[in-house]
Amino acid sequence: MAIAPVKGTKDIYKDEALYHRYVSSFLRSTVELYGFKEIETPVLEHTEVFTHGTGESSDVVRKEMYTFEDKGSRSVTMRPEFTAGIVRSIVSNKWYATEDLPLKMYYHGPAFRYERPQLGRYRQFHQFGVEEIGLDSARADAEIVIMAIHSLSVLGFKNVKLKINSIGDAESRNNYKKALVEYFSSRIDEMCPDCKERLELNPLRILDCKVPADQEIAKGAPSMKDYLSEASEKRFYETLSIINDFGIEYEVDDGLVRGLDYYSEMVFEIHILSEEGKDYGAVCGGGHYGGLVKLLGGPDLPGVGYAMGVERVVSLMQDNHLLDDVKETTDVYVMPIGQDMLDDAFTLTMNVRSLGYSAETPMANMKMGAMFKKAEKRGCKIALILGEEELNSGVVQMKNLETQVQKTVALDDLEDVLNEELNPSSGCGCGCSCDGDCDCEGGECECGGKCCCSEEKN
Ligand code: HAM
Repeated sequence: MAIAPVKGTKDIYKDEALYHRYVSSFLRSTVELYGFKEIETPVLEHTEVFTHGTGESSDVVRKEMYTFEDKGSRSVTMRPEFTAGIVRSIVSNKWYATEDLPLKMYYHGPAFRYERPQLGRYRQFHQFGVEEIGLDSARADAEIVIMAIHSLSVLGFKNVKLKINSIGDAESRNNYKKALVEYFSSRIDEMCPDCKERLELNPLRILDCKVPADQEIAKGAPSMKDYLSEASEKRFYETLSIINDFGIEYEVDDGLVRGLDYYSEMVFEIHILSEEGKDYGAVCGGGHYGGLVKLLGGPDLPGVGYAMGVERVVSLMQDNHLLDDVKETTDVYVMPIGQDMLDDAFTLTMNVRSLGYSAETPMANMKMGAMFKKAEKRGCKIALILGEEELNSGVVQMKNLETQVQKTVALDDLEDVLNEELNPSSGCGCGCSCDGDCDCEGGECECGGKCCCSEEKN
């Protein structure tokens, strides 16, 4: 019986798993610069966390949730997004009362949506995201957008496109919804069954409809900007002006309303062009939310956040050649010459590992050629060849598999020589790539790294 993965899910192994780790570690370290701390919440939540939180009128809740009854007849749902679960955890743990506000949290993990799988769209995918809760500020909104752009630039992206909009406060949205109902009511018979429901539930959702004929009709709909209250307009322009001060280009997209119900005021999406011309959809989406904490049983605290689709980020990095040098490797392959050397090679391999380098050795006798092939397949940089003669003289043959240079190394010197081969330091000895002759005085170096040059020199 051949069992395929469930439609819309995939196995992530080896280089791809490394890409995910690489991306998430850069994203983590960037948001940590802004004071965000990690949170992990359960994949499973009571269904009402999402029906109340993410919102009954969103497609995600109406059509895409993996919801089932557990053995105790409770309805549970595998999270389709993180925000509602994070807010639930803040309310359940009363962190709004016991922790310093604003709470600044980041997360990374799988989310599940029963969507039609296509390029960049899966049923199980990973999000890396942030939520900042407890501070109502146009400046905090701007910082979140700046942090998202900063994170993507740290990964090496250059052509990012920021789309931003304001959907206003509750009063602005209510007035706008009334205008939309008036506009769409006369055309609703021509529109898809989903839009008929959306008109009842939340006419803003019609603006997200993917049916081309409906999109044509939506083009003539009233514009959100004409319904923004004075306060919302002022707040939005304050956010834009801070973003602008940091040289970040943006496009105000009046049709951007985002598909989840909790948003208010500023919303945004980031798109990136693939060098291969592929469109994976938005890599990042987020915005401000007003009533979510209260809706889930907490005090009236606002929040702002975003999530990035890690699979989309990885695909775009691959297409844009930003991962070409990232490879899953093993540092050292230890090669015993003959059956009798297996035990000593095993011991040497353990020693190499204790020095902090990854190492492998065959578990049974292998020919030299086969071991070199194996080392190449494992992406090893160094081969250590151990025969009886070497063992008796307390040495090993070390071959650098990239340069093909082979030398005899005393086992007592192994640590130093491996450090040099696998971790070459720069001229100044601090690990940055300057030539050791810069004037950075232990700060930001000419090569872009943090340097200890002058401390070394003094
Ligand atoms: P979202 O726009 O639904 O927002 O998802 C955020 C990102 O997750 C998208 O921009 C996309 O990159 C990725 N994504 C979504 N669905 C899929 C899928 N089926 N396959 C692959 N990637 C996908 C949220 O989830 C909000 N919780 C974001 C947020 C946080 N807003 C405020 N705080």
